[in-house]
Amino acid sequence: MQKHICIDKKIPPYNKIIQVSSDKSLSIRTVLLASQAVGISKISNLLESEDVLNTLKIIKKLGINYKKKKNCYEIYGFGLNGFNPKNNTVINAGNSGTLGRLILSLLIKTDKKIKLIGDKSLSKRDFSRVVKPLRLFGANIKSKNNCLPVKIQGTEFLRPINYVENIGSAQIKTACCFAALNTPGTTFIRAKKSRNHTELLFKYLKIPIKVKSNKEFDLIEVKGLQQYNAFNYSIPGDISSSAFFIVLTLLSKNSEITIQNVNINKSRIGLIIILKIMSAKITFKNKRIYKGETTADIFVKSSKILKPINCPSSLNSFAIDELLLVFLVVGTKTKGISTFKKLGELNKKESPRLNIAIKFLRMIGIKVLRNKDDIKIYGKPNLDLKRNFHVKNFLKDHRIFMMSCIAALTLGGNWKINDKDSINTSFPKFLNVLKNLGANIK
Ligand code: S3P
Repeated sequence: MQKHICIDKKIPPYNKIIQVSSDKSLSIRTVLLASQAVGISKISNLLESEDVLNTLKIIKKLGINYKKKKNCYEIYGFGLNGFNPKNNTVINAGNSGTLGRLILSLLIKTDKKIKLIGDKSLSKRDFSRVVKPLRLFGANIKSKNNCLPVKIQGTEFLRPINYVENIGSAQIKTACCFAALNTPGTTFIRAKKSRNHTELLFKYLKIPIKVKSNKEFDLIEVKGLQQYNAFNYSIPGDISSSAFFIVLTLLSKNSEITIQNVNINKSRIGLIIILKIMSAKITFKNKRIYKGETTADIFVKSSKILKPINCPSSLNSFAIDELLLVFLVVGTKTKGISTFKKLGELNKKESPRLNIAIKFLRMIGIKVLRNKDDIKIYGKPNLDLKRNFHVKNFLKDHRIFMMSCIAALTLGGNWKINDKDSINTSFPKFLNVLKNLGANIK
């Protein structure tokens, strides 16, 4: 089967209403929380991508059944620590850092030995960031070089922790909150701000959580051992998947797009905040509140040249999965120098995205200066590329593939982009949505 795609034409002008795939963070979290609830949870519009299907496979292997009925997954929970795995069960988180890290946090009380593995990309990623707090709770965990495979065996004698999370990682924060569920007493987490879906879900499920915020940190308290009931949830569209179409439209000529029913949680819209500072016109319509989350339709028009930005690093974690796209816009749609600081976390994703983004921008003729984890991008608007480009995407990173498609469809040139199957981890219909907008992709 052909594993690459070719693009040699810019996308013609379009004016369309689209929907993108459902939110991945909410899909993984709701399935995992349903696995610990009492009774049958019903989750509709669940993202059916590999990361989420692997979440379902793992809970099944751990003894939780589910059934798909029409557009809805029914998950049969037995309450907290309701997993019933066989000894030496092997679970596979595939490509998903979120799944790998969160599932460990739900295993800290299991009396069986469980081994967590993942694909080539996940096996290179750091697990010490969750192993460290989970050991403090009392779990027995073995890992070589802080990477997968990780072996975990829980304990009955868990103790609440007082933890400082200062990376701004929602995965670490969520792992601590999930671990607190099975732990007696109150767990305290002082977490640098990051996406807050877990806190909102806990509040909606009436799991005792208190959150106080200051400018940089959230102070979170979770009271453990409180059973909660099964729930219904309908997953809205993913802002991280919408981001590709927001940027496609900004970089295209004479086009307009409405993306319907997208989660616009404040801690997820760093991309839009950054683009608005650069004077892009992006508007929200039909804003609604759904179970504590905010959703809206996003309206975007093609843009004229944008202003460069001195990006506050406090926005990094609110745009962590969209920074590749931000760099593309800054490089190709602004006149002047933009700066970004403290980007180290980007190199800890599915592939070393900071290194790859810099290489990518230089490949298309944009000057980038790097000083450790800070970069300066020299904007070069109105590029009209003519050369051949080959994006090898050696770790099969879905966001590198999709960002490269957006560049190819808006900047010209003949592109070969490797590993189209990578989109299956987060946005299996990505190429179909592009083709429906008129993109010519072979
Ligand atoms: C996620 C958190 C982010 C993000 C990832 C999904 C989540 O990772 O990059 O794609 O669902 O919690 P970090 O929290 O490690 O930054």
